[in-house]
This record gives sequence, structure tokens and C-alpha cells, in this order.
Amino acid sequence: MDPLIVDTDPGVDDAVALMLAAASPEVDLRAVTTVFGNVGLDATTRNAGRVLALAGRPDVPVGVGAARPLVHPQRERAEAWHGDDGLGGRAATLPAGPPVDARGAVALMADVLRGADRPVTIAPIGPLTNVAVLLAGFPELADRIERIVVMGGALGAGNTSGVAEFNIHSDPEAAHRVLTQTDVPVTLVPLDLTMRCPADGAWLDALAAAGPDLARLASVLTHYRAAFRRRYGRDAVALHDAVAVLEAIVPGTLRTEPMALQVACDLGPARGATVRVAAGPTVEVAVDPVGGAPEVLAEILRRLAQASPFSMA
Ligand code: RIB
Ligand code: CA
Repeated sequence: MDPLIVDTDPGVDDAVALMLAAASPEVDLRAVTTVFGNVGLDATTRNAGRVLALAGRPDVPVGVGAARPLVHPQRERAEAWHGDDGLGGRAATLPAGPPVDARGAVALMADVLRGADRPVTIAPIGPLTNVAVLLAGFPELADRIERIVVMGGALGAGNTSGVAEFNIHSDPEAAHRVLTQTDVPVTLVPLDLTMRCPADGAWLDALAAAGPDLARLASVLTHYRAAFRRRYGRDAVALHDAVAVLEAIVPGTLRTEPMALQVACDLGPARGATVRVAAGPTVEVAVDPVGGAPEVLAEILRRLAQASPFSMA
């Protein structure tokens, strides 16, 4: 089993991604680290523990990470999409999580890297603050990281501004650090791809029917489903983080192209944009689902359904 760390801001699509990681036999979920993002850090941390309990994995240590970005304040959260509690208003319907790990996110990640018998994949699916601090603070551990698979960025239209995607916009300086370093391979799974891999109403209804624990996960998605219907006029949602974590679990799920990127870190209207540049360190940017979008969603559902019941929680 390949060791995996998920850095996350649950968030309802984060919840699906965490359940997917717990359901996948290829990976050993060694740690979950939390960051501000969709909602504040206290809520993202509580939610990470709740989802791990629902997934039957209260043993996975949860390290509490950054409550704010590296440099400039960014007060935008995403309650409109994820609910005030970050789990579609249904957080209280999930089992309570275990106490958090005393080490905090970055120290926990560093310890997992030191202790792993092989390089560890890190899947950041929220703002990149924790991962930027890890890379800056522990450069000697870079060779203990197999790959960083980031959900974030937008080469075309953004979702937080016309040009910026939420995770990158939440901490552009951190994102620039991660996306322009040359010590660790990075795969970026941007909005341009995740918005083309929708989970439709039939998928969501099948999730709800796949077991009592998955019915609770589906209920967490109800608010998000309504928000997508209002915004886009169709019964389908983008499970951004689950698509990225599937790539982390099954490398090659997504076809990638090397691109040199920079992140706009000025305080102007383009702040948080991921900009393709002519030269510089490259990241592998996911451009297409290899087997097609329906197959990506089918695989996510198959894995979740096969693992249910996750726990007796
Ligand atoms: O833009 C989508 C990303 O922002 C996802 O990670 C979602 O959970 C939110 O954090
Ligand atoms: Ca997220």
C-alpha cells in the first residue's frame, strides 16, 4: 500500500475525497491535515475527524494546520456552497471525530515522511499553506515525497473570481511556492478538468442508495447539489477533490501535460490566477480524464460502494 497524506478543508467534496481514500486498498492513509478554506479552521478540523469516523478510520491522525494564509488576509469562505458548518448543514449527523494529533499539521506531515518505508504522496485539496510551510521548513524531506497532487487552479475561468480558483486564491503566495518549486513532482488538477467531470443526480441518488453510511455522505451533499442547481441550472455537482484524490490513488487516471505556471500574487483583480508562462519549472497539469468523465465518476462510486459499510459508527 502506498502511503498517502491528505491536506484538506472539509468541505463536502473534501468529504467524498477522504471517504474515497479510506475506501481504496492501494493507499494507506497515514495522516489528514487541516487548513482554513471552505470554512474556518476549527470547523474544517472538526469535519475532518467526523468524516474519518464515518469512514471507519478514527485511527488516522488529524493534524491541525494553518488558520490563515501566509501573507495577506483572505476572508472569503465558501459557506454558500458547503453550508455554514462546512458539511452541508449535516455535520451533527456524522459521528464525532477523535482528538486531534498534538503535533499540528506540518510536524505531523514531517514525522509521517520520516517514518514511511517509501516516499509519500501528499494530496492537498484546500489552500496550500501547510504544504508550502512543509517544503520551506523541511527541505531535507523533499525526497521522502513521491508526488504532490493538488486540486486547484484554473487555466480558464475561475470560480472565486473570473480568473482565480478558490484553493489558489485563498493563499496565492503558498500556491506560487508549491507550483514553482523543483524539489518535488507536482500534478495539478484544475477546475478546467474537474468541472468537466460532474456527478449528476443519478450518481448522487446511487450514492445515497449504496449503504447507510453513504446515505449520510449523500445527505452532506444535498446543500451543495442545490447550490449547483441554482448557479448552473442542472442537477449535477463537481466533486473537485474526489477527482484529484482518485488521481493520487490511481496515477494515470488523468492525462497530464507539463506546463510552467506562476500564480498572480499582486493585490489586483487577477490575484490568485494560475498563469501559464513560457519558461520555468513545470508541473503536470491534468487536462483530460483518460477513460472519460463518466468512468471517473463510476470508479469513485464503485470504490465507495464496495467499501460500505465503512464502520459501525
Ligand atoms: O475550487 C474548488 C476547491 O475549493 C475544492 O477543493 C473545494 O473543496 C474548495 O476548497
Ligand atoms: Ca477542498
